[in-house]
Amino acid sequence: MSGLLQISDPHFGTEQPPVVEALARFVEAQRPELLVLSGDITQRATRAQFNAARRFVDRLAIPHRLVIPGNHDVPLYAFWMRLFAPYARHRAAFGDALEPTIETAGWAVIGVNTTRWYRHTDGEVSAEQIEQVAQQLQRSAGDASKLRIVVVHQPVAVTREKDAHDLLRGREAAVRRWAEAGADLVLGGHIHLPFVLPLQSVDGTLPRALWCVQAGTALSSRVRAGQANSVNLIRRDAPSQGRQCTVERWDFARSSGEFECAEIHTLALSAEAARAPARA
Ligand SMILES: [Fe+2]
Ligand SMILES: [Fe+2]
Repeated sequence: MSGLLQISDPHFGTEQPPVVEALARFVEAQRPELLVLSGDITQRATRAQFNAARRFVDRLAIPHRLVIPGNHDVPLYAFWMRLFAPYARHRAAFGDALEPTIETAGWAVIGVNTTRWYRHTDGEVSAEQIEQVAQQLQRSAGDASKLRIVVVHQPVAVTREKDAHDLLRGREAAVRRWAEAGADLVLGGHIHLPFVLPLQSVDGTLPRALWCVQAGTALSSRVRAGQANSVNLIRRDAPSQGRQCTVERWDFARSSGEFECAEIHTLALSAEAARAPARA
């Protein structure tokens, strides 16, 4: 069964070589079909850090890749760059598209750039971005065999009150509209804390199941207290099992020096996309 690997917040520049090597071995063993890199690729958006990240991604040789920037991928101290060319280095490493998409037989994955040059760490999603993603989701909304995923950097939900200041601005409208349009999962990073949360537990009026899937930091020494480096591996389950997917969290274990499966969530998905109201 093909899989989607979510790597978030590797913060190249603070990457740990033994973890880098373990993740390369993990990918070789699992052979995922898609790679999602959900931002904070670098620590300080330097050319050298982006180059190291690009070399690593190339080395993984995963057939499809989707990369979005995080707040750390916009230069912080180089003010001229921050103002006039905030994504120049990101683009040089990963291509011009800041909101790439992947469409395959089983997957529709849509990236959203939630960083803003005028915000330091906060992220936001605009009304225009919300609608654009919704239109893309609706193109495959009738196809129950396809897993529809939106990727942002800052989280659309948190599990701890102390992380509330990191929530994505504009998330309420985004979550509602994307649920209507047929999204199944919203992937994020930023807070270096992995979890899976049904968004209907945040907004009980959502018309269908939509899940918040957060990844920890894959490679960086900037781990939260008590958290390991981790990645998520998402698998589409066989149609005979109903419409569902699994999210496996793999933690780097210092004892073995390898990524080990730490948790498996089975997510029930809505049978089909709700019909979205027509928009002007
Ligand atoms: Fe981060
Ligand atoms: Fe971040």
